[in-house]
Amino acid sequence: MSIADFERYPLTFGPSPVHALDRLTAHLGGAQVWAKREDVNSGLAFGGNKTRKLEYIVPDVLASGADTLVSIGGYQSNHTRQVAAVGAKLGLKVRLVQERWVNWEDPGNDRVGNILLSRIMGADARLDPAGFDIGIRQSWQEAIDEIEREGGKPYPIPAGASEHRLGGLGFANWAYELAAQEEQLGVFFDTIVVCTVTGSTHAGMIAGFAALEEAGGRPRHVLGIDASATLQKTRDQVSRIARHTADLIDLGRDLREDEITVLEGWAGDEYGIPVDSTIEAIRLAGSLEGMITDPVYEGKSMAGLIDLVTSGEIAKDSTVLYAHLGGQPALNAYAGAFE
Ligand SMILES: Cc1ncc(COP(=O)(O)O)c(C=O)c1O
Repeated sequence: MSIADFERYPLTFGPSPVHALDRLTAHLGGAQVWAKREDVNSGLAFGGNKTRKLEYIVPDVLASGADTLVSIGGYQSNHTRQVAAVGAKLGLKVRLVQERWVNWEDPGNDRVGNILLSRIMGADARLDPAGFDIGIRQSWQEAIDEIEREGGKPYPIPAGASEHRLGGLGFANWAYELAAQEEQLGVFFDTIVVCTVTGSTHAGMIAGFAALEEAGGRPRHVLGIDASATLQKTRDQVSRIARHTADLIDLGRDLREDEITVLEGWAGDEYGIPVDSTIEAIRLAGSLEGMITDPVYEGKSMAGLIDLVTSGEIAKDSTVLYAHLGGQPALNAYAGAFE
């Protein structure tokens, strides 16, 4: 099956915008920098990368006859907020396990931003003291069991929708969408910079771009910037999901190791804690472009992009695309980082 053969339930407004970041480009003095904006991709509670993944999961939800979506993330999870929005849109109940993934003490961390939005949309969002892990969690299984005991029909969606068999398809499709936009704009992005944590965003892109290359497209670099601070786990997860997604869309060959690049250096020591480079990157993109990034994910990939462009590791004659994956609501829980 090719990507076009998979059923997709439209949740986005259409292709997400692609635009040049002229003032950032001039400031960095290297490669041309553009952005593709998943933060403005839908009308569902500020959108983001999970909305795209969910477009390919919703047909399976509807076919299953489930009445409750069950998902998991940190207190400030963008993913659980997007699951809450999709549940509201579909008229399904939503049960969320919100774990204490981040050692961050801003007052309101467990009440403002994403978790507040999820509650406004009617989700049953409950706090759990467990720490960060991108894998499958006991607390999530318990929530699923509880819904069943109460006579409900749960549909489990893992953290980041990544360990779901269809989780990589949204961003495989993103690669095709970008190729069509490149045609229209008369531009080619030889390098993509993307934040990676639970892995299926980056993995889907890898599979999609590999399929485009097999069909005669030009090769490009897809650089994942780790924001998990558990590098090996994220790298393994990206590699596994990329290979699985490549199989789903019939790539017809194994992915090469050089197609799977997860770079470290900008995550800091702990998931969810911004470091100096994160805050500087957030301020720079905000003050030069009016483009808002967050302290958990996008500020870290922006910091990576800034360093790779200024150091020349991304060559001066490159045209680089920053995949903006959303995440701004979490900023409300990080006021202390900007005081
Ligand atoms: C704003 C934002 N950027 C990046 C990511 C990382 O995406 P993924 O978990 O698919 O690696 C996430 C979610 O984890 C996110 O919410």
